[in-house]
Amino acid sequence: MEFLCKNSFSSTYLPFNMATIDLHVNGKKHQVAVDPNTPLLWVLRDHIGLAGTKYGCGVAQCGACTVHLDGEAMRSCVLPVSAAADKKITTIEGLSEHGEHPVQKAWLEHDVAQCGYCQSGQIMQAAALLKNNANPTDEEIETAMQGNICRCGTYTRIKAAIKTAASLG
Ligand code: FES
Ligand code: FES
Repeated sequence: MEFLCKNSFSSTYLPFNMATIDLHVNGKKHQVAVDPNTPLLWVLRDHIGLAGTKYGCGVAQCGACTVHLDGEAMRSCVLPVSAAADKKITTIEGLSEHGEHPVQKAWLEHDVAQCGYCQSGQIMQAAALLKNNANPTDEEIETAMQGNICRCGTYTRIKAAIKTAASLG
């Protein structure tokens, strides 16, 4: 049996545990009807169709699902979608229009990716680092990136690419 309730944000009837949530993703507005506790990652991938952000561990331990929330790196696998409402969400698809972000350019220059699975999370984490610290030291890079796991072991190239991105400004 399906339970329905009048949603407080709209005139439509939704299953009782669902709400209509306004999201601002990559410069576009979206409205989704979901359980407010649904992780943002699921909403981005399954409701909005942005599959560049990946599911790795689901428990904030690998960094594959990293996106920006108001410019800060966040693990979208453990962030309830309700916590992202009315905030500015940026995914890998929205980091730049044509791959011209310095981190993306440096990633190509250093041919960082191997299988690629972790790489959108790595790039989003690196971009957030450089936004807050334009010229990080080796130690600062290691600290900022330590939560992003790469099973292919691309760490040396990631660090080199971050340094190149910093020089590109
Ligand atoms: S999938 Fe979110 S941190 Fe691993
Ligand atoms: S490039 Fe394969 S997991 Fe990182």
